[in-house]
Amino acid sequence: MNLFLAAYDALYTGVLRPSLFRESAGAAHERVIALLRAGDDRAWLTPVIRAVNRASFPDQPTLVGGVVLPHPIMLAAGFVKGDGFADENAALAAVDAGHNIIPGWHMMPSLVGAVEFGSFTRHPRMGNIGVVVWRDAATQSTQNRIGLRNPGARAAAAFLAAQPNALPAVYGINIAVTPNVDDPDRDADEITQAAGFFVAAAVRPSWVTLNLSCPNTDDDPRGNQSEAKARRLCAVLIGAVDVPVWVKISPGLSDAQLESLMRAFADCGVRAVIATNTRGEPTPDGASSAGVGGGRLYADALDTVRRVSAIKRAHGYAVDVIACGGILKGAHIRAYREAGADAFQIWSALVYRGVLAAALILGEAQNLSDPPPSFSRVGMGKDGDIRRGIIVNSPLGLVGQAGHTFDQAFSLLLAGRTPTARLVIRSCNP
Ligand SMILES: Cc1cc2nc3c(=O)[nH]c(=O)nc-3n(C[C@H](O)[C@H](O)[C@H](O)COP(=O)(O)O)c2cc1C
Repeated sequence: MNLFLAAYDALYTGVLRPSLFRESAGAAHERVIALLRAGDDRAWLTPVIRAVNRASFPDQPTLVGGVVLPHPIMLAAGFVKGDGFADENAALAAVDAGHNIIPGWHMMPSLVGAVEFGSFTRHPRMGNIGVVVWRDAATQSTQNRIGLRNPGARAAAAFLAAQPNALPAVYGINIAVTPNVDDPDRDADEITQAAGFFVAAAVRPSWVTLNLSCPNTDDDPRGNQSEAKARRLCAVLIGAVDVPVWVKISPGLSDAQLESLMRAFADCGVRAVIATNTRGEPTPDGASSAGVGGGRLYADALDTVRRVSAIKRAHGYAVDVIACGGILKGAHIRAYREAGADAFQIWSALVYRGVLAAALILGEAQNLSDPPPSFSRVGMGKDGDIRRGIIVNSPLGLVGQAGHTFDQAFSLLLAGRTPTARLVIRSCNP
């Protein structure tokens, strides 16, 4: 761990976390969101935050699900998800009035790298009322029943479209099915419309995730994860956007259900599966049920990743696996890698290790494993250029033969077929 991160770690665990934990989980969450809202608008902060990012994160480009991430840990959906609104007019009026309706949209990607924004539903939602978030420090877990509070896809798209030059280079949009919709046609229409708002507003994320798996609403969460529903919604989403589509699933699904879902994802052209969302459990007051993340989810999510990866291998499906669930330290990354994960998402780690949790975890993971294949990239253009690019030079020769696509070369590197290489990537079609 570098000195800067060691100092940060000591400051967070010794000072900031105890101060945040003096408040309820809900109050601390609101405080952090208020800070992000204020920070997003302070242009002078941007260079400072970028410098913190550079001091904290290794340059570890990672190809997953058709996207090149700056490093393999993303911030999972639900942290930068936006304000709740009662209706679309109110949400659009807030955008017109210049309000920041997606707090953290600028600060978080600048600080931590790739972030999945959302979940956004077709229509705005206020979410649940009362106490909606808890933490269980003994097991480093979180629990929430926020209930898909969000501004709705139309206002989210309008808001992001208003920041074209400040949008991150790499980010995802998570679109969730509307709870309690029983009509498959309406479900499909809503996903098409929600995705269509981003396309129409020329908001082009690096990927779009279909969230089939929110346990914090009144619907039957597993009902959303039937093969027929997954197949239909994946097909409409893939038809609606021209970026890679990922799907997020629940923990605890049966082997048969995972088999059928993976078959549907592979057939439809889904590029990655995120395993998993939270797991519904009774709330601490016993009054309702809410989704558990963090330490208490880890074993279940790891088991899901292991089973999904086995299905992928058995059938040769071209669906990458992104682990999400209880990743709190480097050893968890190693275990998930061994289980077959290609990349990682975190949420609860932010509570227990602060905003630079991903950097701490990456550093620990690096100390535990053999040095990862390293390379530097020269002359790289935009993502689209890379996809068309060829490797025209490499000191090692192996991956450097002209004609290798970036994806092929990258796979060789990640598979450890070449220890170190310096790749020079040029667009075929500059
Ligand atoms: C407060 C909170 C809100 C969340 N909201 C969403 C959401 O809107 N959409 C989603 O796909 N996942 C949501 N999640 C789930 C996380 O993205 C993640 O899947 C889950 O917390 C497991 O990761 P973790 O163990 O690192 O926390 C939320 C999680 C928390 C704690």
